[in-house]
Amino acid sequence: MTDAPPATTTVLAAPPRRQAAPPGPCAMVIFGAGGDLTKRLLVPALYNLARTGLLPEHFALVGVDLAAMTAESWAGELHAMLQSFVGNQESEDSLTQIDAKAWQLLAGAMSTVQGDLNDAALYQRLKDHLQAVAHDRGTGGNCLFYLAVADRFFGPVAAQLGHAGLLAQPAEKDAAEAGPWRRLVIEKPFGHGVDSARALNRELRGLLEEEQIFRIDHFLGKETVQNIMAFRFSNGLFEPIWNRDRIDHVQITVAEELGVEHRGKFYEPTGALRDMVPNHVFQILAMVAMEPPGGFGSEQIRNRKADVFAQLRTLRPEDAVRGQYGPGSIGDRAVPAYRSEPDVAPDSKTETFVALRLGLDTWRWAGVPFYLRTGKRMSGRATEVAIRFKPAPYAPFADTDVASLAPNWLVLNIQPDEGISLQFEVKRPGPVVDLAAVQMAFRYRDWFPREPNVGYETLIYDCMIGDQTLFQRGDMVEETWRVVQPVLDAWASTPAPYFPNYASGHDGPEAAHHLLAEDGRAWRPVPKG
Ligand code: BG6
Repeated sequence: MTDAPPATTTVLAAPPRRQAAPPGPCAMVIFGAGGDLTKRLLVPALYNLARTGLLPEHFALVGVDLAAMTAESWAGELHAMLQSFVGNQESEDSLTQIDAKAWQLLAGAMSTVQGDLNDAALYQRLKDHLQAVAHDRGTGGNCLFYLAVADRFFGPVAAQLGHAGLLAQPAEKDAAEAGPWRRLVIEKPFGHGVDSARALNRELRGLLEEEQIFRIDHFLGKETVQNIMAFRFSNGLFEPIWNRDRIDHVQITVAEELGVEHRGKFYEPTGALRDMVPNHVFQILAMVAMEPPGGFGSEQIRNRKADVFAQLRTLRPEDAVRGQYGPGSIGDRAVPAYRSEPDVAPDSKTETFVALRLGLDTWRWAGVPFYLRTGKRMSGRATEVAIRFKPAPYAPFADTDVASLAPNWLVLNIQPDEGISLQFEVKRPGPVVDLAAVQMAFRYRDWFPREPNVGYETLIYDCMIGDQTLFQRGDMVEETWRVVQPVLDAWASTPAPYFPNYASGHDGPEAAHHLLAEDGRAWRPVPKG
């Protein structure tokens, strides 16, 4: 039952598909045009938008970098990157060749401005350039400034843009939407704790209105994360049982097989807690825990998510477990310890795994623990939300008792095997009454064709149309840091003497299991690919 594909791949009772329209005219300025993020994700996403007719008709792509680049050399480099990428896209009917028309649309929109991010003259040159671009390409003066640079540049670049008059837009919201609008896009980290997050927010809000700031959390670009809200609020079936009366607890797992790879310099002062929890994992949690919004306006949705963050209890160090991977194996491949990775100190105290127990002080969730865990070099790659329901109140069948019945689990598989499954008890065929736990499973790939997608298409499109639903608001960022700050502080003041404490290929240290055992519960096994 679990693995059988549905008899038909027709979507039942689906209304005509809603079509997205291309955004209005704009220029997108990428700071860090020669960097990894631009090459691996932003330009492939723009190309996919071009391919699906979702680039603005009047569009300019301006690359800013310290390195000398002409529009041609930049386009050449990006084309080569795209070529290697296209054949690898996760698509069943993978496009193995670049669509020449779509590429031409994009390449024809490219231009570059060279300079040092700290040099005020760069921003004057950029201003002149953008004026010319507005004239030549009809972008109407609308600008999206995408800061694909290290986070230490967020404040300084925004300040320089502000001084050059590049962030000014009409004060009235309606007028701003008509243009010319100016928007700034940044991607985590938004600070490294409560204080630095507040300082960054102060800095940005001194230069821009909140409506102009688009803080990306790339997990919100994942269809399955967006689907949590759709699933909850478009089905009458689940909402009545989505509360403390029926739910025993929730487990959120973000397990990675990969190690730290070449990112030791970034990861050493960061660690798993900062890297994954107040951002990606909490975004998933908010989708699961939020109250239904009054409507689907971006502020209505963000307000409900902000409520979740405000109501999350501040973590106590005893509700947190940390781990660091030692040597081990992933499948049949031997892999080194974190401490042997490049740019990692041989006695590093940085955690590569974290498990947490969280509570929400609301009528819906009081007494329902949310257990979260994330780590590198775990036994599989899987992100899932598992909701465990309370057991049946009594066992009417002979020779069974409630304690031995398998629980009902609703599992939202975020990645890589995208879908939803429900586990329940049935009668095992045969002359005696015997029960077995089975699953009903929905897999995206059985129902919908896979589109080539790098996960940034929707996010960039939303920046262009000015829809902030999928972006973090300043107050949310500060609240999420507030929740984890005591643990960050405790771990900084008492570095773990016992690292490494889990072997690569295992799901964290023993203490992570004790955290749930203390409550009479256990982690679900991490799904294997
Ligand atoms: C990033 C983290 O934000 O998310 C990485 O910095 C992590 O450490 C990555 O590996 C996970 O994202 P995804 O989309 O690959 O699951």
